[in-house]
Parts: sequence; structure tokens; C-alpha cells
Amino acid sequence: MKRLLILAAAATALLANAQVYPGSKPISFVVPFAAGGPTDRVARDLAEAMRKTLPGGNFVVENTAGAGGTIAATKVAKANPDGHTLLLWHIGMAATPGLYRKLQYKPLEDFEYLGMINDVPMTVIGKPQLPANTYRDFENYIRANSGALNIAHAGLGSASHLCGLMWQSAINAKDAMTTIPFGGTAPAMTALIGGQVDVMCDQTTNTVAQIESGRVKGFAVTTAGRLSSHKFLKDYPSLQEMGLKGFNLTIWHGLYAPKGTPAPVLKQLNDAMKLALKDPDFIKKQEGLGAIIVTDKRMEPAGHKAFVAAEIAKLQPLIEAAGKFAD
Ligand code: MLT
Repeated sequence: MKRLLILAAAATALLANAQVYPGSKPISFVVPFAAGGPTDRVARDLAEAMRKTLPGGNFVVENTAGAGGTIAATKVAKANPDGHTLLLWHIGMAATPGLYRKLQYKPLEDFEYLGMINDVPMTVIGKPQLPANTYRDFENYIRANSGALNIAHAGLGSASHLCGLMWQSAINAKDAMTTIPFGGTAPAMTALIGGQVDVMCDQTTNTVAQIESGRVKGFAVTTAGRLSSHKFLKDYPSLQEMGLKGFNLTIWHGLYAPKGTPAPVLKQLNDAMKLALKDPDFIKKQEGLGAIIVTDKRMEPAGHKAFVAAEIAKLQPLIEAAGKFAD
């Protein structure tokens, strides 16, 4: 009899929890970079779509920049696992273990994986004043001015930092440029447009408008092949096409909750996220910026976690070969 009562109480609590969520308390998408950047863009577009697919979901975006995204990740790993504090992060989840000797969280143990959102190509871009218009001239200019130029990124472990590391290593110009960190690639882009920094590697979601307007110069894309379906990025060569054998970097974004978030809440969030990825407005916005919405098993928690585990293993040797550790 007692066992029956305990089971009934547990079921009631679980049901109550599932019925109460999301409730009126805001659901925070914690974004590890400054507002206005590509990660923030994905978060705001997804929040708008999930307000429709999770009825009553009061989604807000909370920008918590610093340390290449690890401050935000630590904050979410240690947050109350009630489904109201979520992390929206990108490849940094897999790059930071190879760049930081000590993280305050374990990527594969301290989070519930809620599914992946999109894949985003990157572009190598320069300030408008650069006296180069083709990738070949651009690379030659960097070599001819070794030590005199700088490259912006969003902190150690950010996508722009990782891309810069891999690209400079691939062209044997590891120390050709001084690196300038920002709280995100939104402020970095402002500095590039203003000519305060010279070069950056950033996601198309932040660069297509600036390249198209001529506020920055585009030189190449980081995917294995050209972005042949994009209205004008199709005219830019891939780094691989420019002789950087095997260069292939795409940034992906995923959603995470603190470990221990109740299973019914995780299911509600994953279901709502998958519906949001089918939302025509969300697709139009993201694809217009060069992003590719995830449609494979990475949308599911298990597929998401398996993919990140594989990415951690893949990136570690690449970073060690090219990177500098952050203490
Ligand atoms: C990155 O470089 O990691 C991101 O572009 C940063 C951002 O979203 O601002």
C-alpha cells in the first residue's frame, strides 16, 4: 500500500511539473556573446518561433559574454534545472575543451542536450580599405605585411577565433597578425567596418549584409565547396579551392539545459524546437543569412550529444596543432 502511495505521489509531482511548465516565468536563452552578433541572431529568431510552438513560452534572450562563451556555459551548467535557463551556443561547446586547460563544467556530463538548430558557413573578410580584391591578393598582402596587421575575434574558443587559428595555420602565417578579442563579432564587425581592425573570419549570418553593402570586403568561404545556392556568396571561392587542402569549417548551433532538468520539460522543449525549425518565417530569416537549418538526427537529443562528442574529438588535435592554450 505504502509503495502505491509513493508511486502515486511521484506521478502527481511529475504531472504537476509537466503541466506547470512553461508557466509565466521567462525562459532565458543565454547567449555567450554580445547582442547583435550571429549567435544572438539565431537566439532571437528561434525565440520568436518558439513563442509560437511552445504556447505560453515567455522566451527572452540574455547576453552573457566573456571568455569565448565559457562564462555563459558555466552559468547555465550551474543554473536551476527547471527549464527556464537554457544555453544557445555553437561550435564553442566542442572547441573550448581543447582551448581551456580548466573549464568549470563538463560539456558532455553537465548539460541536457536539447537538439541542434543550424549549420552556418563562415567567410574570411577584410576592412574596406584593404588594397586587395581577390583572395590571392589578400593572402599575398598579409604575407607582405606580416606583423603589421590584426585579426578580430570574439574571444578564445569563439567560432571567429577558431576559424582564425585554423586559417592562419593553414597558410603558415600563425604569427602574421595580432589577434584582437571582442565580446562578440557584432562589436568586432563595427571595428572592422571602421577600419580599426583589418581582418576577421565570421559567420555568414553576420557578414552577408556587410559584404553585399560593401562595408567590408569578402574574400573566401570556409566550407569545403562554394555556397553555390547563395545569391552572391556563390561568387566567392572556398579556401580549399584556393589551395588550403582539406579546409572545411562550418559553425553549428545547439540548445542545452542544465543536467537534471525533468524529462517531460526536456521533451516539451525539444518538440517545440523541432516545430520551430519548420516555421516558414524562421527558415526564411535564417536561410536568407546563409544558414542551413538542421533536418537530420542531430535535432534529437541523442544525435545532438553524439555529434558534439565527435566534434570535441575532431577539434582537439586541430586546435593543439594550431592553437594557443587559454589558462
Ligand atoms: C563567434 O565568433 O563565436 C560568434 O560569431 C560570436 C558572436 O555570436 O558574436
